[in-house]
Amino acid sequence: MRVLVTGGAGYIGSVTVAELLARGHDVTIYDNLEKGHRNAVPPGARLIADDLSRRERIEAALGKFKIEAVIHFAAYSLVGESVEQPALYFTNNICNGLNLLEAMREAGTGRIVFSSSAAVYGTPERVPIGEDQPAMPINPYGESKLYFERILHRYHCAYGMDCVSLRYFNAAGASEAHGEDHEPETHLIPSVLKVAMGQAESVRVFGSDYATGDGTCVRDYIHVSDLADAHVIALGCRGERVYNLGDGKGYSVREVIETARRVSGRTIREEMAPRRAGDPAVLIASPEKIQRELGWAPRRVRLEEIIESAWRWMQKHPEGYQK
Ligand code: UFG
Repeated sequence: MRVLVTGGAGYIGSVTVAELLARGHDVTIYDNLEKGHRNAVPPGARLIADDLSRRERIEAALGKFKIEAVIHFAAYSLVGESVEQPALYFTNNICNGLNLLEAMREAGTGRIVFSSSAAVYGTPERVPIGEDQPAMPINPYGESKLYFERILHRYHCAYGMDCVSLRYFNAAGASEAHGEDHEPETHLIPSVLKVAMGQAESVRVFGSDYATGDGTCVRDYIHVSDLADAHVIALGCRGERVYNLGDGKGYSVREVIETARRVSGRTIREEMAPRRAGDPAVLIASPEKIQRELGWAPRRVRLEEIIESAWRWMQKHPEGYQK
């Protein structure tokens, strides 16, 4: 299939592009390289270094490369920043997303897989979280993802667009060639491994008084290559779908740090810090629906395996991608 991948030079995007190429798809990346990296573009993919603010340019790319489907990753994704600067998030994640949809409509591209988030659930009523639980985001990032899902619903109803929203839980780990290189880095696993690398003094544990087994937050970590597989499978879907992408198992912040110590064999100093605003205590997916309907299940499920892959990548790329 001829696929356009927005945000294809980013973390999850680049792993997905590599997977699409390995399966024989023709891939065009549309990425303004604000967060993405030129060196993360897999060989064999073409890159259009542009953003989604100009509808006519997107439309031209869709037409020129006869695009049949879009995978839409490009977005801002920092919860804290979204609280301070909601306009940034609504403009990029919603308005620019709408430009993409309108360009698709004009060009006759009728299929989209959208990178959504567990952040749409807000503080869940119960875990594991099924797709039928109410979506009540508690920050502008989660709201931007939920509103875009609703826009997709309307595009499906009115124009018959095939739309799949994938609500990721905590993306983690690395493939051989692609890993996490964010600026700033806020995610737990790379932050912990930076301490193991000697690039930071200690990792802060945001809250140890949650109502969880050891008092720290619990998350459902999902290997980035498993996420990539799910996108490739989702490309084959017709109609309108919403799926969680998680494993159904959670690990606490302390368990992550302990595992990183074992995997790296290094000392990792931790320091207690206050709770981070907007963090729910526990986020665990029920992955049952996508398993049942599409036969997708994560394959790299051991936390050791996920952290080992991130550690290998970080040792090979101590400064991240070459600028
Ligand atoms: N944490 C720390 N110290 C750190 C970094 C994180 O204790 O230095 C804790 C956080 O408080 C949280 C857990 O580790 O409890 C995981 O934090 P991450 O920042 O790695 O991930 P989040 O669960 O906050 O966020 C992820 C995605 C978001 C998405 C969210 C869904 O990165 O894009 O899941 O709720 F919105």
